[in-house]
Amino acid sequence: MKKDFLCLSDFTCSELEEIFALCRELKAKTKSGTPHRLLDGQTLAMIFEKSSTRTRISFEVGMFQLGGHALFLHSATTQMGRGEPIRDTARVMSGYCNGIMIRTYSQQAIEELAAHSTIPVINGLTDMYHPCQIMADLFTVMEHRGNYRELKYCWIGDGNNMANSWINAAAVFGFELRVATPKSYEPDITIIAQAKKAGAKIIYTNDPIVAAKDADVLNTDVWASMGQEAEQQERARAFTGFQINDEIVALANQDALVMHCLPAHRGEEITDSVIEGDHAIIFEEAENRLHVQKAIMATLMGQNTCS
Ligand code: CP
Ligand code: NVA
Repeated sequence: MKKDFLCLSDFTCSELEEIFALCRELKAKTKSGTPHRLLDGQTLAMIFEKSSTRTRISFEVGMFQLGGHALFLHSATTQMGRGEPIRDTARVMSGYCNGIMIRTYSQQAIEELAAHSTIPVINGLTDMYHPCQIMADLFTVMEHRGNYRELKYCWIGDGNNMANSWINAAAVFGFELRVATPKSYEPDITIIAQAKKAGAKIIYTNDPIVAAKDADVLNTDVWASMGQEAEQQERARAFTGFQINDEIVALANQDALVMHCLPAHRGEEITDSVIEGDHAIIFEEAENRLHVQKAIMATLMGQNTCS
């Protein structure tokens, strides 16, 4: 049966760790220039209803390096943009391609796409989740710390798609996650409840100082996500104080890692000095999107081994 990658909580810890193991192998092969054409002749359709730099480039380059091909499809220039039903698009694409990556607004839309496709569907970001990004983030932490599951993670900022996926990850991997958001910008309460039911150690607060104290990993994201541009000013007021700056970093553990999925609004949710400082692993995090997504695609669409 085909498997999709829509949300981290659809997977077990050992399934995701197998993806990390393959990622390590593929990254080494990429760096040494060793061919690894695990998806020789295969095609990935990439549907975008929102902008992207990293997701688009890393999936397209990843497919090329795996011996396949990626098709960039902006929904506005396909019949989807004129209202063709998702279920019909799903069936048609299943006849041409070997996988679909989609960036869109509603999680329900990608669930519908997946339900009517006979090929794997990968979530390249919805309003609800950004699972590929969290996989790249955790892989990057692992490269730095090895034992990433014993660490204390901290989220400061909006309770958005990234925060929701971190909550999923806390449940699947069992690490401690502190989440600090302003009132009324909390993560999805159903996602928190499900994660807590699954045994996740989630500490929720409205105080970034409480969340950052002794943390091993500090993480943030923009205050207004794609689709929320009209709320930018109102959000900038509400999020005052929810910034990762040198003072917040000083509260965390001495060797704390700072992450941001990018794009960043320097001077809002994170300062220039932190992005450019010694704690930041932000650009490695961005590069690892390529390696981890290659492992996800190879696992879902083809062989999950290089041998
Ligand atoms: N982090 C991330 O998904 O970046 P893009 O929006 O550029 O794809
Ligand atoms: N929360 C951000 C993430 C961008 C990668 C957004 O959805 O715009």
